[in-house]
Amino acid sequence: MLSIQPSSLGELTGRPRTGMSETEAAARTWDGYYAGSFTHAPYTDAVVFAIKALSRNRTGVVYEFGCGNAQNLGFLRSLFPDARLIGSDVSEAGLAAARRRYEGLELFANGETLALAPASLDVVIERAALQHVPKPLGQAYVDEIAEAMKPGAGAFFEIANTDHGHAALGDGGQDPVFGYRVFYSLGEIETLFAAFDIDQVFERRRTLVRAPDPAGSAPVYNEACFQIYLTRR
Ligand SMILES: C[S@@+](CC[C@H](N)C(=O)[O-])C[C@H]1O[C@@H](n2cnc3c(N)ncnc32)[C@H](O)[C@@H]1O
Repeated sequence: MLSIQPSSLGELTGRPRTGMSETEAAARTWDGYYAGSFTHAPYTDAVVFAIKALSRNRTGVVYEFGCGNAQNLGFLRSLFPDARLIGSDVSEAGLAAARRRYEGLELFANGETLALAPASLDVVIERAALQHVPKPLGQAYVDEIAEAMKPGAGAFFEIANTDHGHAALGDGGQDPVFGYRVFYSLGEIETLFAAFDIDQVFERRRTLVRAPDPAGSAPVYNEACFQIYLTRR
């Protein structure tokens, strides 16, 4: 399922070309992050969503976009040995960390497409990944994910909103730890998920998250995000 491709989608990103594709640039940033960090927070809201879905369908097929070191899928594996758990990320370092720690996950490095089988997924989760992707490319990913979901399948997305502490940077701004960022309004969320029924949207605040900064200071992340619960039409 390996799908790394040179960028042919410059017009999708709205960013000037630098010679490096969007996904190559993201991979470089995130490889650096995972080289020095192993986040591990089992009960994320994305995981809770997947637990509810898998408890009704223990052999279901779950896909996580931007799974990083697979902290979410790894925890699900420990609860649901018979589920098929698929994850992708641009960061090979994140995926390598996942493979060292967890067994039985189907992990692949994605480029600007995902190469998922049509109508094959029962559950989709995404947590804090699309907020690091240029919006036109994010829309292309969501459209492809929608095609890969079975009708009636459920999805959970968690995406920084325009009240996020770094929103003042604007779309395409670079924060000191996580690099490239975009921020979504409620109207943009409706457009992004036009192929879905939107069941619920919560605004979640994660105020005063402290994160190490390569420059040595300790920025405080006044994070706000939308948590979006969806059903594929
Ligand atoms: C804040 S981390 C979240 C990781 C994971 N979802 C979790 O909950 O631990 C954001 C992730 O998005 C990934 N990412 C950034 N751009 C991406 C892209 N174009 N395609 C896939 N993943 C991407 C990063 O490599 C990183 O692992």
